[in-house]
Formats: sequence, structure tokens, C-alpha cells
Amino acid sequence: MNQRVNPSVARPVVSERAGITIRRTGVNLGAEISGVDLRHPLPDAQFAAIESALVENALIIFREQDITSDQLMAFGRRFGELTVHPFAPNEGKNAPELIKFRNDETTPPFGTDVWHSDETFRAEPPMATILRATDELPAVGGDTMFASMAAAYDGLSDRMQQYISGLHAIHDMKPFRPLFGQSLEDRKRLQQFELMYPPQLHPVVRIHPVSGRKVLFVNPQFTLAIDGMEERESRALLDTLFHQALIPENQFRHRWEPHTIAMWDNRSTQHYAVHDYYPQRRYMERVTIKGGPVTGVPRADPASIRRAKYVAPEGVDIHGGHKPH
Ligand code: OGA
Ligand code: MN
Repeated sequence: MNQRVNPSVARPVVSERAGITIRRTGVNLGAEISGVDLRHPLPDAQFAAIESALVENALIIFREQDITSDQLMAFGRRFGELTVHPFAPNEGKNAPELIKFRNDETTPPFGTDVWHSDETFRAEPPMATILRATDELPAVGGDTMFASMAAAYDGLSDRMQQYISGLHAIHDMKPFRPLFGQSLEDRKRLQQFELMYPPQLHPVVRIHPVSGRKVLFVNPQFTLAIDGMEERESRALLDTLFHQALIPENQFRHRWEPHTIAMWDNRSTQHYAVHDYYPQRRYMERVTIKGGPVTGVPRADPASIRRAKYVAPEGVDIHGGHKPH
């Protein structure tokens, strides 16, 4: 792994902006925000402070925010349009944007115990997700793990960073297939969804549209393969890249309390719901904010890589009298 000085270490732990306090809780991601009341519309200056805290910290946490579902949706709408998840359980016609995860002894959690960023099977995956804990939480267990995919990218060797620049990966809705049964009707419905959500090509290294940081943008839930590679090559490369989310230095483990709200920048993080609490109850609500186009980095210029090979310490002639072409 590259041994670089981590600039995140030097950032101040506590900062105040527009009357709110932002306290970092992790080196590479995570901060708790206090001094706001999410039951009421936020003043513009506070909203702007929260918006930039989200990009800087990738994951922001609000404690003791006993808000209603409507207030959650109103808070989410400050950041942009809310989207409707095609497969997650929602409130139907009344509030299709509101996802309710009601996991108890009869409904074990589905599909979130895999590292992922949300909905990367879409052409434009969400910009952010907001998850709210109700007061029905496991007495122990049920944490959520997060990983900074900017730190994950920074941790790759220069060689690997160059190698993956300009590659694209195929993302697919396949994890949701088991939700459909084998009846003819179910298979027809699945086919309709597959037509509506065809596999998408996304850059393996994306540029964060606000911070400009490079982010590793493949995840084991939705990413099937690297475009243009043999299957074995693709599998080996993805395995190496998926591993970056598993490195503890890139992670943050979030512990829920009743009425905690977590919001993550879905462009620069992955997460994993720890499914260790079943059959205890865990009731959560979620809204999701629409994202924009995914912009990648260009392929590393082969000429610059060739030139780089000829860099020699001063006074050392590695060409034996021949000039490099
Ligand atoms: C999600 C998700 C994690 C959790 O809402 O997208 O993955 O801990 N949830 O429930
Ligand atoms: Mn998720």
C-alpha cells in the first residue's frame, strides 16, 4: 500500500459553522453534527454548512433527532429530488420515496450485508442516502459499517492507480432477482424490470463532482465485471479492488441509538449492514437523493508512463550514451 502522509489526520477535530458543531469521529470518514433541530426547516447558512460537512466527512451523524417521516422527507428534499427505489419496501402511493425497513423475528433483513454503494445499477446512482433509526432498535448489534472509497483509492499503489484509470465496470440489478418467484407472472415482471434497468457501465475511478477527489467506484453487490477484460482477469482485479473496503483504516463503524440519523455521501462511500441482531427488532426509515452523471478519469497516457521509466538520479546516465527517443 502507498505510505503517504494522510492529510485527513491534520484536519481540525471540532469545527463550528453557522452555529452548528461538527465533530469528526473517524480519520477518513465520519462526523457528528450537533446544534441543529431537524424538526424545523434549516436556515440557509446551516443547510450550507451541513452540505459541505457531508462532502468533507462522507458520513454525517445526527443524534437525538426525534422526527417524523414527513420531516425526514422534508430534510432530504433540501438536498435534491428524492428517488423511488424500484425494489425496496415503501409506503406505496402515499410516500413512495420513503423506504421502511421493518426487520423483526418474522422478517429477517434482506441484502444489505454486502459491501455496496446504493443503487449503482442505475445510470445515475443516488448522490446521498439518509437513514433514520426509530426507537425500535436491537439492544445489542445492528451497527452499520462504512468505508471511504477515496481513502480506498489513495491506498492503491501508483501502478494500480494508473492501471485502473479509464477502465469501466458493468453494474447490474442482479441482487434483487431472488425477490421474484418462479411463476410465469413473476418471471414476466422480472423481465420488465430488467428492461427498465439494463446493466450500466460506470468508470472504475470516478471524480467526486464537488471535492474533485478520486474515488474507487466498484462494489461487490452490483459490479459484475470489468468491461473489455477476460473473465479471469476481471475477477482477479475486482477481488483486489473490493478488498480496499475491508481495510480497517478505510472504515468507520457506526453504532445506532434511538432517533439517530445517518447521512452518507453515496458517491464516495460504501456501507454494510451488520446482520448480527436477528431476531431482535430493527425499524429504520430511509430516503434517497437523486444523483447526477458519473464522471471518470481518463486512461493514463501510455507515453507519459514510458517517459517516466527514463527518470534517473542526476548525474547517472542509464542509457550508455544513447539518448532516449
Ligand atoms: C441502506 C442500507 C444499512 C443498514 O439503507 O441502503 O444499506 O444498516 N442500510 O440498515
Ligand atoms: Mn444500502
